[in-house]
Amino acid sequence: MAVDNFSQRVLAWFEEHGRKDLPWQHPRDPYRIWVSEIMLQQTQVNTVIGYFQRFMQRFPDVASLAAAELDQVMHHWSGLGYYARARNLHRAAGEVMARHQGAVPDDMDSLQSLPGIGRSTAGAIRSLAFGAYAPILDGNVKRVLARHFAIPGWPGSSPVQKQLWQLSEQLTPHTQTAEYNQAMMDLGATRCVRGKPLCDTCPLARSCQALAQGDVARYPAPKPKKVLPVRATMMVILTDATGDILLEQRPPSGIWGGLWSLPECPPERSLLAWCREVLGCDVEQRHKLPPRRHSFSHFHLDITPVVVAVKNPAKGLMDEGSRVWYKLSQPDDRGLAAPVSRILGEIGRPNSEQQSKGEAP
Ligand code: ADE
Repeated sequence: MAVDNFSQRVLAWFEEHGRKDLPWQHPRDPYRIWVSEIMLQQTQVNTVIGYFQRFMQRFPDVASLAAAELDQVMHHWSGLGYYARARNLHRAAGEVMARHQGAVPDDMDSLQSLPGIGRSTAGAIRSLAFGAYAPILDGNVKRVLARHFAIPGWPGSSPVQKQLWQLSEQLTPHTQTAEYNQAMMDLGATRCVRGKPLCDTCPLARSCQALAQGDVARYPAPKPKKVLPVRATMMVILTDATGDILLEQRPPSGIWGGLWSLPECPPERSLLAWCREVLGCDVEQRHKLPPRRHSFSHFHLDITPVVVAVKNPAKGLMDEGSRVWYKLSQPDDRGLAAPVSRILGEIGRPNSEQQSKGEAP
């Protein structure tokens, strides 16, 4: 099995290359380790260092953190992001005072019952602060293991996560657990990096299955993209005699809320009947522009723009106040829906298909 000497190689590498001078390692106490692990959850070491030092000056122990106003805690977190972490940390400090007499607990159940502490963070605190056996599985460790054992699938899915936890449990040594865990995080952060891993200097390279397959980039698999529903629409580019284009303002909520857009004819409707009924004008000429797709987080919108010339440019169209004739030649700075902005750009561009149509040869 490829795990031969796995932890020894990791520990030997740590001895020489691991990070041993991080501020939370000196002095190493459970409160400092806990705060650092929360700060490091979504943030890189280099960013965390300054925040950690200022935080420790202001809140040197659990009691001072628990007694502080949340506002003060937020102030010291400001710029670090993911602010739920700070709210949870503050709440958890209150719980440590109330339930554990101010001492950070060392067992997995108590740690995991505190706000903001999941299984991996609990394992990191238990191992790094108390020197006890506890596996971890943060993003860095997931990447190292997924590559070394060529584990297919997205690590966020529960079967893959389960498999990775089992590996982490089996590989984590019962002695020197703190050094091993720190080394695995450091390996993930400095060698087995997401973009271009530095396999030449990785202590696990000789047994790495992804490397042996010549396909390190394949692991870990990315989060599968959701299959999004597709909607279709026709965007009507209605021009008047001077070439101005009719725009209408979207309702304040929903997609492109409050932005200016083109009138939309439902694709199942006859364009001629819709223009007559909704815009009160008779279509004289029309031609479609190439369709294009605009994607939102929850659906794709397939847009077919149609340039429409009308016989009787739309008396009464302006009555509602939510419509304007937009001067392509003098664009103003109103907010346009992104695809509308692109479509107007295409139409307004010299030598574009539409523009050249009416021009003298
Ligand atoms: N990421 C999470 N915990 C860490 C640690 N202790 N050292 C480096 N990176 C980390």
